[in-house]
Amino acid sequence: MELGGALEALDPNSIKRSVLMEVEGVPLVSSMAEEWGHLWGFKARPDDLLICTYPKAGTTWIQEIVDMVRHGGDPRQCGRGPTHDRMPFIDMFLPKPFPSGVAQAEAMPSPRMLKTHLPVQLIPPSFWEQNCKIIYVARNAKDNAVSYFHFHRIGNLLPEPGNWDQFLDNFIAGKVAWGSWFDHVRGWWEAKDHHPILYLFYEDMKETPDREIQKVAQFLGVTLPDPLVNQIVQHTTFESMKANPMTNYSTIPSFILDQSVSPFMRKGTVGDWRDHFTVVQSKHLDKVCARELGGSGLAFRTQI
Ligand code: A3P
Repeated sequence: MELGGALEALDPNSIKRSVLMEVEGVPLVSSMAEEWGHLWGFKARPDDLLICTYPKAGTTWIQEIVDMVRHGGDPRQCGRGPTHDRMPFIDMFLPKPFPSGVAQAEAMPSPRMLKTHLPVQLIPPSFWEQNCKIIYVARNAKDNAVSYFHFHRIGNLLPEPGNWDQFLDNFIAGKVAWGSWFDHVRGWWEAKDHHPILYLFYEDMKETPDREIQKVAQFLGVTLPDPLVNQIVQHTTFESMKANPMTNYSTIPSFILDQSVSPFMRKGTVGDWRDHFTVVQSKHLDKVCARELGGSGLAFRTQI
């Protein structure tokens, strides 16, 4: 079941900026919260691979890396469809009768690769029961917030972001879709000690992509000779993915994702936050990070 071109069939008037609704204290877009039972009851299979991130942490990037690793570095195989068709986004509930991410996943043969932004406490229990492998990518709060702000500007299914100052306040307060960044990165960090979770950092992927790709291969039990690693590095650079219609979300109609406002593949750097944060905002977020992540052993780099 492909979303692909079928998205064009959606009535643009059915796409509305969402309000947030809480599930177990976590704000979610209302379409997701209303269908929560479907997501919570999701039936994972033992050979599912779940890719999990806080929104805008580098999901699409790790998805392409994983697909390349799984397909022996063959770009033609990864070109079989856009990212969202190859790896259903199980959190996605578009206006009916459009298939949900859950329905898309149910129709997919194994082995499946699935995407979610759920915080660890909201992961459907079947993923734990089936002991599924999970790859988590975390990105430093400052760049993550900036990227999420710009994504709100183009994502017509998300709430209105307001201006940067307002958005940052909401981000720090966890009053954004999928909730608190701090709880997310910390919750998954703690879970990795009890489950088969590979925890990666966007900044490491940017600095030493070959090493991080090898970590993915090892986690998936794939042996990758160096030339193939290099091929995957080249295929998954920001520039390659920005130019690739199968990874740049250009197949999504503009009434859902308006890339004329800001491209999905926007900057792809570490440190773009410097062009957005005031000194006061930066110091404040440093303080909140120290308080919220203190004692966890979790450390982020805001420059490389
Ligand atoms: P920016 O908005 O900072 O540019 P997600 O896929 O989780 O929605 O994350 C999107 C962010 O990851 C965007 O960040 C996007 O540019 C960046 N990104 C996507 N592919 C990338 C790549 N190959 N290398 C570096 N960054 C990438």
